[in-house]
Amino acid sequence: MNPYTTLIPLTVLCGTLSAAPQAPVHDSFTPGQIWMDNNGVHINAHGGGILHNHGTYYWYGEHKIEGDAGNYAQVGVHCYSSKDLYNWKDEGVVLKVAENDDKSPIAKGCILERPKVVYNSKTGKYVMWFHLELKGRGYGAAYAGVAVADKPTGPFTFLRAGRVNAGQWPADMPKEKRTVAIEGGVPKLTSSSYPADADPDAFFKRDFPGGQMSRDMTIFVDGDGKAYHIYSSEENGTMHIAQLTDDYTAHNGRFVRAFPGRYMEAPAIFKHEGKYYFIGSGCSGWAPNAARSAVADNIEGPWKELGNPCSGPRADKTFGGQSTYILPVQGKPGTYIFMADIWKPQNAIDGRYMWLPIRFADGKPKIEWQDRWQLP
Ligand code: DGJ
Repeated sequence: MNPYTTLIPLTVLCGTLSAAPQAPVHDSFTPGQIWMDNNGVHINAHGGGILHNHGTYYWYGEHKIEGDAGNYAQVGVHCYSSKDLYNWKDEGVVLKVAENDDKSPIAKGCILERPKVVYNSKTGKYVMWFHLELKGRGYGAAYAGVAVADKPTGPFTFLRAGRVNAGQWPADMPKEKRTVAIEGGVPKLTSSSYPADADPDAFFKRDFPGGQMSRDMTIFVDGDGKAYHIYSSEENGTMHIAQLTDDYTAHNGRFVRAFPGRYMEAPAIFKHEGKYYFIGSGCSGWAPNAARSAVADNIEGPWKELGNPCSGPRADKTFGGQSTYILPVQGKPGTYIFMADIWKPQNAIDGRYMWLPIRFADGKPKIEWQDRWQLP
């Protein structure tokens, strides 16, 4: 049985011709297992995020295909809807890559990762942000892309993509440090640590005129309606937390740099009892590493690292997953779901979802493995 693309009617499996095919009915989360949608097909929404809108949850993620070519965007962003978070209805591909147009920034074969959708009540539009890499350029472009729709189920129209906040100084950079002169020149690239003797702001200064790099990302909308784009920048060495404009479709120029030189990816942010919590990962490609967590009184920091939120066997590898989003469950204050991907780079479509509950102990978020669990 191929759970990725094909529905085998239950009638066939049961040897009867009478009943119509039934979708599997889930009443719990089973992290790491195949997760069937209403058509009996493994959900295809990797690196995803959730929008809650008028009593329905919408799950948006990367549509992957079979094999390692599946790590490139061949289709677009897939959407599913649910009322209970266990059972998901396929709503189709809501942002399509551009077929037969290699000049489009979202040409088929580009890299389009970690889409996140938010609703803007001022414009009544649904706004999708995503990490975009131009076709044929590996991870060199480091662009943020944006698309809008009139309905949560799309279709989303691509607006633009590019580097972020060109020519803007971070709000947390003292005036006397605001120079693009790089002491000792731009250091050699490294994927996991910043050379001790290099100018700590070298990559930021290098990219000041043309715009800052934007890779792994999330969007967080605060209680006052302000939206923030949080992304791995400066060769993944430092996170940026950047405000969006009131319509959420652009950056307004205000941003701060967080976790300088800590090389973090997979950012996810949530707010609990007035404090902001961050969960992310280190940088090791598709291979899992230990999650990181942090807390702040203000989303712009200062952030205090709280260490690995995971505990128990394989906590040092986030149980094989990597964060993508933290979902506050509606109507259940204090209930949050840690959403993570178990990547399968050799067969991208087989990537699994690992949703686990977050609990708090000593003011820190805690995540433990569960084979199966239900919402409280
Ligand atoms: C890890 C990132 O978190 C993913 O989004 C993806 O970019 C992979 N690296 C690619 O290696």
